[in-house]
Amino acid sequence: MRFNFIPLIQLAVAGIATANFFHRNLAYHSPFATHPQLGHDTSKINENCIQRRQNMDSAAFKDGHYATFYGGDFSNTPFIWGGGVNFTHAGKEGDPFDTSVLLWTRAVPLASSGGAVPNVDVPVCVAYQVGTTPDLSGRIVSRGEAFTSYDVDWTVKVEATGLKPDTKYFYSFKDCATAATRWFNAYGFAAHNTSADIFIHLGDYIYESLGNGAHIGRQTLGRELATIKDYRQRLNQYRTDQSLVDAHLRAPWITVSDNSWKAGTADSNDTTVGCAFSASGACFTDRKLAAVRAYHEWMPIRQVDPQDKLRIWRNFQIGKLLDLTMLDTRQYDRDITDMYYNTDVNTIASFANRSLMGAAQEKWFFDTVSESKSRGAVWRVVGQQIVFTQLNELGSCTFSFPTSHDAWDGYRANRKRVLDHISQNRISNTVILSGDSHANWVSDLAYPNDTTTYDPVTGKGAIGVEFAGTAVTSGSSFGSGITPAAANAVSTQLVGLNPDLQWSEGSYRGFFTLSIDSLHLNATYYGMNNISFANLDGFATAQFVVKAGENKLSRPVAGGSVLAGVLQSQLPASNSTN
Ligand SMILES: *[C@@H]1O[C@H](CO)[C@@H](O)[C@H](O)[C@H]1NC(C)=O
Ligand SMILES: *[C@@H]1O[C@H](CO)[C@@H](O)[C@H](O)[C@H]1NC(C)=O
Ligand SMILES: *[C@@H]1O[C@H](CO)[C@@H](O)[C@H](O)[C@H]1NC(C)=O
Ligand SMILES: *[C@@H]1O[C@H](CO)[C@@H](O)[C@H](O)[C@H]1NC(C)=O
Ligand SMILES: *[C@@H]1O[C@H](CO)[C@@H](O)[C@H](O)[C@H]1NC(C)=O
Ligand SMILES: *[C@@H]1O[C@H](CO)[C@@H](O)[C@H](O)[C@H]1NC(C)=O
Ligand SMILES: *[C@@H]1O[C@H](CO)[C@@H](O)[C@H](O)[C@H]1NC(C)=O
Repeated sequence: MRFNFIPLIQLAVAGIATANFFHRNLAYHSPFATHPQLGHDTSKINENCIQRRQNMDSAAFKDGHYATFYGGDFSNTPFIWGGGVNFTHAGKEGDPFDTSVLLWTRAVPLASSGGAVPNVDVPVCVAYQVGTTPDLSGRIVSRGEAFTSYDVDWTVKVEATGLKPDTKYFYSFKDCATAATRWFNAYGFAAHNTSADIFIHLGDYIYESLGNGAHIGRQTLGRELATIKDYRQRLNQYRTDQSLVDAHLRAPWITVSDNSWKAGTADSNDTTVGCAFSASGACFTDRKLAAVRAYHEWMPIRQVDPQDKLRIWRNFQIGKLLDLTMLDTRQYDRDITDMYYNTDVNTIASFANRSLMGAAQEKWFFDTVSESKSRGAVWRVVGQQIVFTQLNELGSCTFSFPTSHDAWDGYRANRKRVLDHISQNRISNTVILSGDSHANWVSDLAYPNDTTTYDPVTGKGAIGVEFAGTAVTSGSSFGSGITPAAANAVSTQLVGLNPDLQWSEGSYRGFFTLSIDSLHLNATYYGMNNISFANLDGFATAQFVVKAGENKLSRPVAGGSVLAGVLQSQLPASNSTN
């Protein structure tokens, strides 16, 4: 296909002579197409650069800074940095579609040998190539060039198009102005036959408060994150962690963005006392805009709605096998949540007019799962941030673990609408993935307290499954640093109080994998033995099977035994339907 070879280049060549290579970098784009003032005026930046080229003596620069774009006449090409580039954070891929993927990198101009700070007004040009061999010696299927500058923290985000589904690709970024500086080989996007074709991240990618990570040198700029500089510094810092770098290099990520709601967080809001209350002194709305801007600069995420960069809810059709539907159950249009001081959320948790997703997203979600069923996709995997299944409180037990109203438990009518939609429309093979809670929870999906149609022993009557995963490093919600034995004591009480909760584990930090074909969806939970120092010492704590068409965890759940946590089936019979 001819299109494969020249996807983006044609656009540029067909444009005015001074093609705008800034605009191609998605990091410059406005969060809202109707509010261009929130983005960057790339034509202005482009014009300034041409102006500079005409006015400045270029003798100080090596020839290389007049790049050869497409082998053509470059007298009209804009002025680009020729002093060398540091790809400070390697390459990442994200948001894979059937025929395209986003490629991300960061290209910072190198200081001169004398240590002089580079002229930040000069753009850096980055060229990317996508091919099917690790050294890119074969056919190049997608290539192009784009500019970056200090305006977007030197981030580069481009879309590689014309790709084939279910194919492994490799890509590289290099400085257009010099010989190849460094190559970034990585797996391209979705190939169904390895266990980590896609990484799914369910929120809390960074923490914004002062203390988090400070003891291992990961300090913020002296305050809770509020400004664009704060957010950029934090994302930059996280992305120097070797394990995170490796995971980003391994496969494309699909991410969604703590106790926040549409107009505030636990410690800043715009409502009652306006901007006066905030640890950082910044208005919440300004803070949210800064966070969204840095997030879109630093994450390989697509802008789904041209009018709305806050919208990160989106759907991935992965062949006929599954739809991966990513929701935003945090920021988008969520009514007020539990922010630690306002425990009266409990009294409003049942109000029918409370929404977790907002009306537009809720309708879109229902339409998306219905469409997934009618198009014949086998599985519907729903990625979202907070625990869905009702978790009844422990009351007077040794460990205080109050029901979290920062989860779907705080939005009961909305949860019921989801369960109604799935059950009334007979939407089968629905699997909800959840984050946030800093503990592991595996449940059959059932109506809260339903022990008439749902049988916790056989799973009969369940309408799907929920896999909720723990944190990578953050302290357990059962108590930071809690031992496996102490956590199991809590889990025993929790599974006793919640018949649909089939496994609970609260000590280990870790993650889980899903392995999916048309007959099974299998989940393996992993625990890391020690997160106090860098190591790769982990083990599989529990494995679950969901058979297509069964809408419940296969019995015996987890094969009847686990290496950590407590199974519903391990409780004495008298205890299990409390
Ligand atoms: C490139 O960036 C990395 C990460 O910030 C830094 O450690 C390294 O020193 C930089 N290299 C040069 C040559 O500036
Ligand atoms: C992966 O899929 C390809 C193409 O279907 C096949 O040739 C290869 O053997 C598979 N690899 C593994 C490890 O299953
Ligand atoms: C905003 O924050 C202040 C200070 O914590 C709090 O007293 C107030 O109730 C908050 N307002 C809302 C609507 O959350
Ligand atoms: C939401 O519903 C509750 C309970 O019915 C009611 O008291 C409240 O006024 C409603 N709020 C809005 C904004 O309609
Ligand atoms: C389920 O039962 C528990 C314990 O009796 C109760 O606290 C909770 O509100 C009930 N949930 C619903 C949705 O009725
Ligand atoms: C899921 O696990 C079952 C039981 O161990 C196994 O037969 C099946 O092949 C697995 N399927 C996938 C997709 O991992
Ligand atoms: C984790 O490693 C640290 C540093 O080696 C050690 O002090 C600590 O005892 C270890 N923790 C566990 C639970 O093994």
